[in-house]
Amino acid sequence: MDNVILREKNGIAYVTINRPKALNALNSATLTELDSVVGEISQKRDVKAVIVTGAGEKSFVAGADIVEMSKLNSMEAANFSRLAQKVFSEIENLPKLIVAAVNGYALGGGCELAMACDVRLASKKAKFGQPEVNLGILPSFGGTQRLPRLVGKGRAKELIFSTDMIDAQEAYRIGLANKVYEPDELISKSEEFAKKVMSKSPWGVRLAKASINNGLDVDLEAGLKYESNSFGLCFSTEDQKEGMNAFLEKRKANFKDR
Ligand code: CAA
Repeated sequence: MDNVILREKNGIAYVTINRPKALNALNSATLTELDSVVGEISQKRDVKAVIVTGAGEKSFVAGADIVEMSKLNSMEAANFSRLAQKVFSEIENLPKLIVAAVNGYALGGGCELAMACDVRLASKKAKFGQPEVNLGILPSFGGTQRLPRLVGKGRAKELIFSTDMIDAQEAYRIGLANKVYEPDELISKSEEFAKKVMSKSPWGVRLAKASINNGLDVDLEAGLKYESNSFGLCFSTEDQKEGMNAFLEKRKANFKDR
């Protein structure tokens, strides 16, 4: 594998999309590698958080690979979209924190990859956009679905129809980026955030993530039921007992992920 680099340190997996000459554009080989990297991470209990970024100085991911897409027929294009949607849904539902460290262009499929992550921490150099309609296509790695869920229907339509590229500050203003940092701070700030989340109860974070994700796809009543069932489930974990005992004993909790 060389289109996607996986590195691990202190419980954090670093996933780097590595096609800098093509600004890390996602071709099917890269998506397939990403799929197996995500599968590998999901099996590793010692990996508690993931940071996704792009290789090089310029780009997170500049979209789906236009060279490859230009040769597809209708059936192949639908399959290409399905492959990316499957991988991005696996990312979205990974029972671990997943941070997009957006270090440059996050366009088309790159913006869609970032949106499948739990949070988007952006470098001041980051640029976000959905330029697909310039190419006679529509966002199809989840963009028509995740963008309106993140920034609202009106803003999503504005971005997708206009193809305007927005900077990190504007992405922050509309809720697409969670935070904006100096480029040389981006990875250390992403690690800082990951470590903060890793110090909390893993079951609490995992079940809150699943409750938020599942709740957004169903009506409020069904979402509330999911939430109370998850709440009940917490009380079968050691972490809940440790968290509450630590509070009562006025000490720091020591969570064991059990
Ligand atoms: N696919 C394939 N190659 C790409 C690419 C992409 N999405 N984006 C950039 N590249 C390649 C360029 O072709 C170029 O290759 P060569 O050196 O071989 O010519 C190299 O990366 C560097 O790019 P530029 O010379 O264009 O760099 P720049 O700084 O002048 O411009 C840019 C940067 C504005 C990001 C520009 O590259 C660009 O507009 N890229 C395409 C962005 C885009 O349209 N993305 C959406 C793709 S469609 C999609 O993603 C559909 C979907 O929903 C799944």
